[in-house]
This record gives sequence, C-alpha cells and structure tokens, in this order.
Amino acid sequence: MKVQVDRRDGLTAAAEVTASGVFERPEKDDTFPRALQKEDDATGGIIKAAWAKKELKGKRKELSVFHRPGGKGRIALIGLGPRSKFTADIVRRAAAEVVRGFRGKGARTVAFRLSSFVDENVRSEAAVAALTDGAILGNYEFLKYKSTSEGTVEDVSIHLGEEFSRDEAALKKIVSDQSTVDDVVIWTRDIANLPADTASPERLAEEATALGKEFGIKVSVFDEKKLAEMGCGGILAVGSGSSGHPPRMIVLEYPGGARRGRTVALVGKGITFDSGGISLKPGLGMQEMKYDKSGAVAVLGILRAAATLKVPPRVIGVMCCAENVPSGTSYRPGDVVRSFNGKTIEVLNTDAEGRVVLSDGLGYVVKQYRPDEVIDLATLTGAQVMALGDDMAGLVSNDDKLAQGLLAASAATGEPIWRMPLTDYHRDLVKSEIADVRNVTELPVAGMLTAAAFLESFIGTTAWAHLDIAGPAYTTSKTRKWQPEYQNIGATAFAVRLVTRYLETAPPRG
Ligand code: BES
Ligand code: MN
Ligand code: ZN
Repeated sequence: MKVQVDRRDGLTAAAEVTASGVFERPEKDDTFPRALQKEDDATGGIIKAAWAKKELKGKRKELSVFHRPGGKGRIALIGLGPRSKFTADIVRRAAAEVVRGFRGKGARTVAFRLSSFVDENVRSEAAVAALTDGAILGNYEFLKYKSTSEGTVEDVSIHLGEEFSRDEAALKKIVSDQSTVDDVVIWTRDIANLPADTASPERLAEEATALGKEFGIKVSVFDEKKLAEMGCGGILAVGSGSSGHPPRMIVLEYPGGARRGRTVALVGKGITFDSGGISLKPGLGMQEMKYDKSGAVAVLGILRAAATLKVPPRVIGVMCCAENVPSGTSYRPGDVVRSFNGKTIEVLNTDAEGRVVLSDGLGYVVKQYRPDEVIDLATLTGAQVMALGDDMAGLVSNDDKLAQGLLAASAATGEPIWRMPLTDYHRDLVKSEIADVRNVTELPVAGMLTAAAFLESFIGTTAWAHLDIAGPAYTTSKTRKWQPEYQNIGATAFAVRLVTRYLETAPPRG
C-alpha cells in the first residue's frame, strides 16, 4: 500500500472514499459537531439526520458510510471516542478500522482528512505518522497460501487542507519515513507467518543472507559443525531432536551511520517450532508455536529497518534458531549442557528451550563484539502473558538509561512494554545443585522474571534489556478482538517499530 500526502481538502479532491474522524460528545450534549459541516453538505444533510437519530455517535470503532449523491464517492466517518481520551494510538486504530472496513467493498483509494484526527494532545506530526501506521499495518493480510483475495485498499492519501498545507514538506517526510518502517514490519510479518515446514532455521539463514546481499551488510551463518567448534552447546542441544531442520546461529552486522557510534546488539529467540521437546506440550493450541521464532525474525526486520534508514549506531543482530521437537536424538530432562561462555546449564524441562538457545547468542555477542548495549527479544514465557496480557511485552533491564530509552520509544510508537523487577530472589531460584544454572525453577513463581535471571547470567555487566514478547508477538482468532485493529490474525512483528525508533533516536552512551 502506498501512503501519500495531499495539500488539498479531502472532500474537494473527490477520492473514492473520504474518511474523517468523529469525536463522541459528552453525555447530554447532542449538538451536531461543527467539524462535520463540510461532510454533511457533501451528502445533502444526511449526516446531520443520522446524528439526530443517534445512528452516529462517534463511539470508538463505529464506522458509518454515506454515499454522496450523483455517485461522487463515499464518506466514511470513524468514531474516535471522547476527546478527553484521545491519543495517537486511537488514530492508528481508527485508520486501520477504515481500511479494513472497505475490504472487499470496491474501494481502491481512501483519503483521510487530517484536521479531523488532530487536537491539542495529538498534533499533526503524530497524527500523520499514526494514520500511516494504521493504514499500512491494518491493511496487511498474509496471502501466501490463499488462492483468492477480497481486494483491499491500495492507495491512501492524507489530506492537509487549508489548516496544514503550509507544513507539507515536514509532514511528507514523516509519512515517508513511517511508511518505510511499516513496510519493513509487513516484510517481517510475512516471514514470521511462515509455518515451520517452510521457515526452518536454514530458511531463516537464507532470508538473512539475501538481506545482507541487498544492503551490503555482512551476514555469517553458523551450522551444526561450526556451532560445535564454537562450543554453542545450548543451540545444539535444543536442535538435536530435529532430523530435517538442523539449528543455525545467524549473525548480521550493520556498520552504523555515525562515524564513531556505539554498538547495539540484538539477540532473538528463533525456535521455528516449539513442541516442548521431550517435555511435550499439550496438543491444544500447539500450532501457535510456529510463532516461537518471532524474536529472531524481529531482529531480522530491525536490521532491515536500520540499514534502510541508516540509523546512527552500529547494530549486530544474532538469531538463535532451532526446532524443538522430541525424538530419539533429542536432549532430555536432566541433561547438562555447556553454553558458549563456558557456563553449564542443567536442563530440567526441555520446554524451557528459549533461554537455552539465547545463552549461546548472548555469550557470543558479548565476547565477540563488546557491544555497549544488548537487547534480546523472545517469545520466552507463558508467564509473561499471564502477568501482562497479550497486547504488552515485559521489559527487564539492568540499566536504567537503556530501559528509559526503550520506554520512550514504546510511548512514541504505541507498542506497549512494562518494566518488571529483577532481584536476588529470582537469581537464587535459577541456581542449580549440579551445574551453574538450571533452566526451570523448583517453585512455580515469577516465571517471566526467573527466565530473565537465567539470561542475565550470560550477559555479565554489559547494559542489557530483555523483551519478553510471548503475548504480543502474534494474534489468534480468539485474541484478535482484544488487540489493536492494526494487528491482524497471525504474526504482528511486535517490537520492530519500537526498537527501530530506539535506534533512530537514542542518544549515544557516555
Ligand atoms: N515458547 C514458549 C513460551 C510461550 C508460551 C510463548 C505461550 C508464547 C505463548 C516457551 O518456550 C515455553 O514453553 N515456556 C515455558 C517455560 C516453562 C517450562 C518454565 C512456559 O512458559 O510454560
Ligand atoms: Mn518451550
Ligand atoms: Zn519456546
């Protein structure tokens, strides 16, 4: 989908669909909103009549469509809820609701009237970015395996009108940069949505290699033989049960746009399918575990965004990829494996595999690149979903500055994260009797945080942030209803916008 900025007023431009936002009025105030006068004139008074009958109230998600007389196109009004609760995320969701609403309804182009999505809390700059996000991400469908499609909106224009036409250049730049990021999000979703028969560790390595060629960035792929030489016992153990889909560690190096910038390392969990292994998961819902590679695929997407936007820091991406399935060659409960940095892990549950593969990636990147900061992304624990829900990721960090930077980027992009504590209580829980750490605890408590404590022991003193994205990484038909409108069923590519924003804006360390 292409999003453009247009100086003209959306109504005079005669697009197929002109979309405006409508605020909900406070109770007892039923006066017709003055902002809708132009829309009402264009329909010959029908909108005022609908308002009087309370058919149109401006409630969130309320999408009303009116045909202009003489076949001059349609007017869509999307509810924004009360003005007092208005945020950029509501604009993002509203734009998604509009483009989705016209799916299969013969509209190729939609024109948004910017003035109706702006107020003192959401300025025009934030509103155009949010409209772009909502339209592109909301329109996304995973069509690879569909032989038919209903037909979706192809072009979106954001109309500035008199109020904003003098800011055209600045707003154009925002829309174009945001489109770039959103196109990367969609590219990422397309890979994360691939099922495990296709998206094997080797396939992910091919995607990374192709990305490296396209952008001229260095990509290294470590296969089983190389992983054994390196001493990556974690990835090898987790991948040992799979006969057809051997494990890979993939490293990408984006050199950085600034001359003497800092180095940020991103490490992603890439379990292409998580059956639990010998500690087999229950069958119900197991198909969702094809999304257990979402952290690693997000790392790939962020590297693409970093290279496209030429962000200042040097960025190292590490994808820890393996398939976790049971067989005669699988690793088992009770095994002790040695991770890259020499630490030993007592495996008490083969389903706590994410932390085991990440231990190698974290240890490797810290030793090899001495990064200023490490951020890991992982669909790590069901406990994250229990604690925070599936619209929000958990953040654990040993560094306040890094955590603050990520929280600021989260607020700006509307990808919610919540910082959680990490204390000696959690660290004690992952101590093992016979090895350096154990991969599950004896007490079933604070699952998200004991997993983080485990990861921390492979970081040392480097500034580090862990994002547990188990909940928000994907949407199912069950959870869809509660998710933002711009998250279609399937992979969301959560954290690509957030971390890209962080890389674009975070000040250098020191
Ligand atoms: N991939 C899962 C975590 C997960 C659960 C992601 C639900 C998305 C949705 C992870 O590998 C896992 O199985 N974790 C276990 C850990 C437990 C055995 C300590 C869990 O959360 O149950
Ligand atoms: Mn698991
Ligand atoms: Zn997993």
